[in-house]
Amino acid sequence: MLASAKNLKPENTSFNGEWTSVPTGLGSINFPTLEPLPQQGIPWPSRHNVVDPERQLNLMQEMQICINKLKHSQFYHTFLDQIQNTQIVDNFVRALDSELKMQMVIYGIGSIESDEPCRFQLSLAILMKRKFSWIGEIEVFDPVLSTTETRVLEALGCSVLSVNEQARRKALKPTFFFMPHCDIRLYNNLLQENWQAELLNHTVVFGNSFKLHEQIASKYTRSYSAEAKHVLGVQKFMNEFRIKTFSDEWFGGAFGDSSLHFFYLDPEIELQCIQAYFFSV
Ligand SMILES: C[S@@+](CC[C@H](N)C(=O)[O-])C[C@H]1O[C@@H](n2cnc3c(N)ncnc32)[C@H](O)[C@@H]1O
Repeated sequence: MLASAKNLKPENTSFNGEWTSVPTGLGSINFPTLEPLPQQGIPWPSRHNVVDPERQLNLMQEMQICINKLKHSQFYHTFLDQIQNTQIVDNFVRALDSELKMQMVIYGIGSIESDEPCRFQLSLAILMKRKFSWIGEIEVFDPVLSTTETRVLEALGCSVLSVNEQARRKALKPTFFFMPHCDIRLYNNLLQENWQAELLNHTVVFGNSFKLHEQIASKYTRSYSAEAKHVLGVQKFMNEFRIKTFSDEWFGGAFGDSSLHFFYLDPEIELQCIQAYFFSV
């Protein structure tokens, strides 16, 4: 089955900085306009290699401000209530299986030096790690990260990957993929790489609502549906919880349209079932 799925691998493409507005029944959603992605697995040279201690210090201070602002916000308290409710806890426990820790992999965080929403997103990941002992090490990759940003991420306790995995990381152990507002093809790459019950059951994705992607797929182009094939195909085996935001706060921009996604597949029946559903999309 995996061999067949690989034949459907989407063309390598990525966000080019522009957005396409797509009308939906729930209002208008912005989706990234796509262009070719760089190749996977090649060591990634940071685009801005200059080490500037003053910039590092400024960014560290800005990060501390964002972490504090988020920590004391209504959004964060609601988020904590939400993810500690029984339903979501049960899903995390199932994804953890018998492990005590769930590593966190952050893809597509964006430029934390240029954009406040990106700093708030990183702040949420860091606050989660501080709050929950079951969150393990944090690894981060985004091709836009500068040396300054890399140093600050490391000072905050994260490891920055030097290789572009194109989100094709196998969840050989429980893994929380924190991917706020990523290109649909990164979510799709991730699911394709983990297209087996054992791997998907260990995978948790924080990112743009997969259900919203399903709702807009019919209104968007055929090529979009092809690019989103695994995101659409996994819906039958998924629990999705929308992250509550408040339109009058700054956090809407950072966490709007975001959801937590958990997957549940029975290893005994999964192969036929998921294959049949996948090819009927
Ligand atoms: C739409 S932006 C979202 C940025 C930020 N999270 C936000 O909400 O504003 C998508 C991000 O994905 C990053 N990206 C593109 N290809 C990637 C890859 N292969 N791995 C990780 N991140 C990638 C881009 O550089 C960009 O920062």
